[in-house]
Amino acid sequence: MTRILVTGASGLLGSNLALAAAPRYDVVGLLHRQGLNEPGFETVQADLLDLDGIGALLDAVQPDWVVHCAALATLNEAERQPQLAHRLNAEVPGRLATEAARRGLRLAHISTDAVFDGSKGNYKETDGPNPLSVYARSKRMAELAVKAAHPGAILARTVFFGWSLNGQQSLAEFFYNNLAAGRPVNGHTDRRFCPLLVTDLAEILLEMLEKDLSGIYHVASADSMTKHEFGLALAARFGLDGGLIQSAESAAENPPARRAPDLSLNTARLSQALGRRMPTVAQGLDGLHAQHASGYRQRLRDLATQPQPLEG
Ligand SMILES: NC(=O)c1ccc[n+]([C@@H]2O[C@H](COP(=O)([O-])OP(=O)(O)OC[C@H]3O[C@@H](n4cnc5c(N)ncnc54)[C@H](OP(=O)(O)O)[C@@H]3O)[C@@H](O)[C@H]2O)c1
Repeated sequence: MTRILVTGASGLLGSNLALAAAPRYDVVGLLHRQGLNEPGFETVQADLLDLDGIGALLDAVQPDWVVHCAALATLNEAERQPQLAHRLNAEVPGRLATEAARRGLRLAHISTDAVFDGSKGNYKETDGPNPLSVYARSKRMAELAVKAAHPGAILARTVFFGWSLNGQQSLAEFFYNNLAAGRPVNGHTDRRFCPLLVTDLAEILLEMLEKDLSGIYHVASADSMTKHEFGLALAARFGLDGGLIQSAESAAENPPARRAPDLSLNTARLSQALGRRMPTVAQGLDGLHAQHASGYRQRLRDLATQPQPLEG
């Protein structure tokens, strides 16, 4: 059975991916600070900032594939801690790629739509990146480092939503938590994206590894919408009051990190490689709703060693 090391296994993507893969693969989740309660897969604990420990970690775990989800993934936090962002988001992937290539391991590195400046949208893999923030620059540096060290690696530029361990990691949870509690929120009309449901992203990444793909791919939903439209679509899907979502411009809120207006990604290359279209955002929201109804959200929350009570 293929053995997969999933870094960031407590994070939004890593936890959903490790859970999705565990029935079919031999999964080892790499944890850092956040522990997991009987996740149903093996775990190891390590600080990836210990660059010299990465080779020994791979030798101890002996994976066939590595899916690298660990990162400083919050734009504003990266802006506040640029050195940490550079070390965790750029240096760690570079070293991981070097050590993985040396051992002949398949590697999927998770990158971001934010490598683009958002001035045009519908970005193809051949379009030139122009990162605007500390976070985006660190992720672009990672792409270059991973590609140089491990030319066979997958570089998946993506954006996603879903249920998380702490219930607050994704934009979907932001809208769901606030609307379910009857609190008004801003929905940005000046920011366009094409988010995938995180469990769909997990399955697509596993399929990309199975099919032995390599290089840069845009892994996103087939269509795009503004964050305001996303909030309204989520409200409609969950029967919540979309009237609580106020139209707002993110630029007017003066966030620490510069945001790009249109980060929609063209997914034709991946659709061709996999022989099918990517899911639409509406299909992703259907999946999110079904997960809520089936208790999957609660299952994720129960994984956290110190779970917070559910809202809504
Ligand atoms: N969320 C999005 O929509 C989005 C969009 C585009 C790209 N991405 C990329 O997708 C990937 C996953 O993002 P996410 O949202 O799932 O992130 P997340 O929920 O913030 O999770 C980050 C993970 O990294 C771990 N980590 C942090 N510092 C570490 C260290 N020094 N050593 C080992 N592990 C460490 C964290 O563990 P502890 O909490 O225990 O420290 C956590 O499990 C990232 O590469 C991110 O840049 C995310």
